[in-house]
Amino acid sequence: MMNNDWKKAILEATPQLKEFESTGIYTAEMEKNLGIEYHDKMETGSILRSLKDQKFHLSYWETPYYEKAINTFIDGVENAEGKIAADIGCGDGRFTELLLDRGYNVIALDSHIQPLFDLSQYAEKNGMSDRLMVIHGSADSLPIPSDSLDVALAIGVFYYLNENFEKALGEAHRVLKPGGILVNSEPDIEGATFKSVILDEIEDLLENLEQRRFKEGKGKTEFKFRLFTKEDMKGHLDAAGFEFLDYHGLSLLPSILRIKTSRGEFSLEELEQKEDQVRNVFDYFDTNGSLHKHVIWNSRKR
Ligand SMILES: C[S@@+](CC[C@H](N)C(=O)[O-])C[C@H]1O[C@@H](n2cnc3c(N)ncnc32)[C@H](O)[C@@H]1O
Repeated sequence: MMNNDWKKAILEATPQLKEFESTGIYTAEMEKNLGIEYHDKMETGSILRSLKDQKFHLSYWETPYYEKAINTFIDGVENAEGKIAADIGCGDGRFTELLLDRGYNVIALDSHIQPLFDLSQYAEKNGMSDRLMVIHGSADSLPIPSDSLDVALAIGVFYYLNENFEKALGEAHRVLKPGGILVNSEPDIEGATFKSVILDEIEDLLENLEQRRFKEGKGKTEFKFRLFTKEDMKGHLDAAGFEFLDYHGLSLLPSILRIKTSRGEFSLEELEQKEDQVRNVFDYFDTNGSLHKHVIWNSRKR
């Protein structure tokens, strides 16, 4: 197959995709949902790839643990070359490059256009454009043909869709080939509840447990999103037609450290001097901890 034939095949099968103002980014109509509403309030959208290089940003601490888990979960997919993977809710592509590096042709999709411009330019500069197709679209109505992907990644995305969560999971199932691998990460009820306790937010604590909702953002960008127990998520995956394979919990500690640092309760200078020791502590809890902020799920389309 010529380099771009895989993109042509997707465009032929998905007539609703239109090129956005000669940018090389394709766009499809979307219905508003809470995930879109929340992120649209951020001018830049999600730029966690750029922020992982900013020392002591949460993305700086957490990204290596996500990468380790994602790599482990997709290790079993043989001969990635020529296969198609999607990074659903990719933002500026924090994990898109990981998929490209492994040899996949990659569809990177997000509902916020801004980080997609950034990702597109980054791919162009780094000679990755032939194997990357950037799509502005929504996770609950993917403009991607059925049974076309070997891997679908959705890191920190589906829970934002709240009542459309099940629809998004169903869409990931539709676009994967039978046997295709899904890796999705969602917030964990134990971590959110523990965080409310130590940050003295009793209202949030009750809401976590009673309504299975938690607060994200502040002021006019404060929203309540879905929260899951590990049993909830196993049930959702099963109901959507996935076979549960494994999960990896992402430690809550970096998130607490980040909040305390931004509140001035933890000194940046001291953190800088002790960075290696702090990293060792986080490494230890990544392997041995059980208090999870998010859980990264690994399942297979039945
Ligand atoms: C927490 S960020 C994660 C970004 C990226 N996966 C990462 O880990 O760096 C959540 C992303 O989901 C996107 N998003 C929210 N609702 C969406 C929807 N309905 N369809 C597609 N993307 C959505 C946001 O625009 C944002 O880029």
